[in-house]
Amino acid sequence: MLKKIVLILVIGGAALFIVAQLVPFGRAHDNPPVVQEPNWDSAETRALAQTACFDCHSNESVWPWYSNIAPVSWMVQHHVDEGREYLNFSDWGQCLRGEEAEELAEVIREGEMPVSSYLVLHSEARLSDADKEALAQGLLATARASSSTACPEGRRDHD
Ligand code: HEC
Repeated sequence: MLKKIVLILVIGGAALFIVAQLVPFGRAHDNPPVVQEPNWDSAETRALAQTACFDCHSNESVWPWYSNIAPVSWMVQHHVDEGREYLNFSDWGQCLRGEEAEELAEVIREGEMPVSSYLVLHSEARLSDADKEALAQGLLATARASSSTACPEGRRDHD
């Protein structure tokens, strides 16, 4: 009896897994062209953002093999769609506003971002306290550098 139940569960699970692969959501995985990045204060700030944020907040996402396999693919697609919608370092305009930078710095310092489930398979994005602070400071410096070039009017907002 127990054996039968286990067998049914295994076969049912396998069937569900196969059917899940046919669901089209999560297979787009596109990287639209890079429009314009912020005017980074340094290559280091960009490198840190690339390491910890670009997979979900840029048009240069890296899509690992398991990102093509449902149900992981659904979660990954959802994260990238929503992440890009909130903020996209590849479609920024050259100006990073002060308040935006402060929000980014806060989210980084508090460890709210990157999303915790992402860190399970991306230990490289698990920034040390020193790197978190460097990224936060770098984004603030990027914003300060932008304000001297004046933020263009009507630029899309990111929050
Ligand atoms: C695994 C994907 C992923 C990574 C990596 C990631 N984010 Fe996000 N981010 C999201 C998603 C999804 C949202 C929108 C929903 C939410 O807030 O959880 C978001 C929202 C945000 C917001 C909006 C405020 C908020 O908390 O709702 C900020 C700011 C942000 N991310 C900053 C960052 C920064 C800075 C990094 C890098 C240190 C980063 N994110 C890395 C997926 C990601």
